[in-house]
Amino acid sequence: MYICPVCKNKLERQDNSWRCPEGHCFDIARKGYVNLLTTVGRNPKNSGDNAEMVKARTEFLNRDYYLPLAEKTGEILAEELRDTSDPAIIDSGCGEGYYTVKYAAMVPKARFFGIDISKNAISHCMTRVHQKGIKNCSFAVASSFELPFEDGFADIIVCTFAPVTDREYAAKLKQTGSLIVVSPSPGHLFELKAAVYDEPYLNRPNDYGLESFYLADEQVFEYKKKLESSEDICSLFSMTPYFYKTSAKGMERLRALQSIEVTCGFVIQTYKLK
Ligand SMILES: C[S@@+](CC[C@H](N)C(=O)[O-])C[C@H]1O[C@@H](n2cnc3c(N)ncnc32)[C@H](O)[C@@H]1O
Ligand SMILES: [Zn+2]
Repeated sequence: MYICPVCKNKLERQDNSWRCPEGHCFDIARKGYVNLLTTVGRNPKNSGDNAEMVKARTEFLNRDYYLPLAEKTGEILAEELRDTSDPAIIDSGCGEGYYTVKYAAMVPKARFFGIDISKNAISHCMTRVHQKGIKNCSFAVASSFELPFEDGFADIIVCTFAPVTDREYAAKLKQTGSLIVVSPSPGHLFELKAAVYDEPYLNRPNDYGLESFYLADEQVFEYKKKLESSEDICSLFSMTPYFYKTSAKGMERLRALQSIEVTCGFVIQTYKLK
């Protein structure tokens, strides 16, 4: 399963570490994850969400506004894997584990491997695993651009609001495997943008430049949720890319909101290898 990020040989579990035949050794942290980022990947400027961002994301996700999305994607995973025995799924850019752990509970026959470049996020994944008593999830600190798995390892790579890499994902998937990408739909959180901006805009669809794949299925999944407190509104907004582009006037409008009904809108795409 895991390969050495330095020499690419297979890693073997020995007591509390993962070791390769060339002697590279990666200790398993007390919480149970392993850090497989190479020195290059450890550049602190590129180490993903920090502790504060992870905490904000966790607090928001725990209110289950995005539970319908987790369940919908879980159903798609279960359906894709209906005829597969002992499947392996990589959740690439899994964040703090909200979705990974939900999927793992919904598809108990599968082994889930969450990776994220943020050590803080991966550490929180283990908290979720311990809280829920989940047995079929493993987590590693690693980059989506250098997945620490053998080629052809995964039946599915699922990628939710996280970097999509064409060649790396193609290499790590089985030839019959699927890449499932979840991204915001054009109307996602439109009401929130309309409350904050003078000229709200629809999200543009992402172009991931996937040359190794073809689009096999696309589902737009939308529902409405009422955000019930100023705290939830602000923490949701701070998780979006809009947060960094909002003027002081916009932020003032945002903080004044006490409740708002918003569209939660997602596009779930299934890609297959060409
Ligand atoms: C918007 S968050 C989504 C997290 C999670 N999938 C979710 O929906 O809750 C994006 C995640 O991608 C991670 N990330 C950013 N660059 C990455 C990379 N090169 N490799 C792996 N993860 C990365 C961040 O640390 C962050 O956890
Ligand atoms: Zn090695």
